[in-house]
Amino acid sequence: MLKKRAGALLAAALMVSALAACGDDEGSGSAGGGGGGGDGKLVLGFSQVGAESGWRTANTKSIQESAAEAGYELKFSDAQGKQENQIKAIRSFITQRVDVIAFSPVVESGWDTVLKEAQDAEIPVILTDRAIDSPDESLYESFIGSDFVLEGKKAGEWLVEEYKDETGPVNIVELQGSPGAAPANDRKAGFAEVIAAEPEKFKVIASQTGQFTRTDGKQVMETFLKSHDDIDVLYAHNDDMGLGAIEAIEAAGLKPGEDIKIITVDAVKDGMTALADGKINFIVECSPLLGPQLMELAQTVADGGSVEKRVLTEETTFTQEQAKEALPDRKY
Ligand code: AHR
Repeated sequence: MLKKRAGALLAAALMVSALAACGDDEGSGSAGGGGGGGDGKLVLGFSQVGAESGWRTANTKSIQESAAEAGYELKFSDAQGKQENQIKAIRSFITQRVDVIAFSPVVESGWDTVLKEAQDAEIPVILTDRAIDSPDESLYESFIGSDFVLEGKKAGEWLVEEYKDETGPVNIVELQGSPGAAPANDRKAGFAEVIAAEPEKFKVIASQTGQFTRTDGKQVMETFLKSHDDIDVLYAHNDDMGLGAIEAIEAAGLKPGEDIKIITVDAVKDGMTALADGKINFIVECSPLLGPQLMELAQTVADGGSVEKRVLTEETTFTQEQAKEALPDRKY
């Protein structure tokens, strides 16, 4: 890999004028200079999903701050929720001969071609936050992030426990994350697996995407409330959709957390505040603070070292009482 970096340095020197002509459309947050570590800094190209949620904002901040602390040059690109933008960004990172490419895939499928291009260019790739569904694991060095299926299971387990003394039926509505995204697929699957143990008791009466955003969470909850007057529980795949849904529930004259119990995932500050206020009943944590570990992984792969194929994030869950305790120290 040291040879690769030397090659990258040479390529960077040869490409200076070409890069100057191209500009730096994938360069916000960049510490300057072209790709390939021309000034000796490790150059990390990072393609982010977008800015759809509080979680994403915290994740972007973690990556930008950690890169600055590590002294890396970060070429940051916001895909605005579109896979085609991520593919374009990755191709641009390849052209710029960055040392390492990292990205959080908008959706699970459709990455093999562009990741093969990165592999052919001998640029290591790290998946952060979200997985891809390619069977070819040689296309990336490591995947750092949460176990989303486990998160869904934790949500289901809380629900089963909460209603253990009741006969049911318990009518559930579900706000899914953005279609095709790993956390949407996996949180749905994990939750469904747990409640499937009591099919007569737990019924998902409506399930629709809320795109991981407050706006869509609110709109979809409004439609759920119009077509169902017997909703007991809302399971939202993230805090933001849950917070949007709370607005819709209150506008309908109902009490979130009481008339409709709410389970969400993430545990960002706004979600935790609603939990402490009794408007949400349970939150499964998903940590966005992936920056420090990502920088370590990037350095190791750039130096040709070996890394774990799967780096799991440590996470917990919060009840209303636990949220009250944790809130004062919550960093995001
Ligand atoms: O991939 C992580 C998920 O993406 C977060 O749970 C959600 O808030 C975000 O949009």
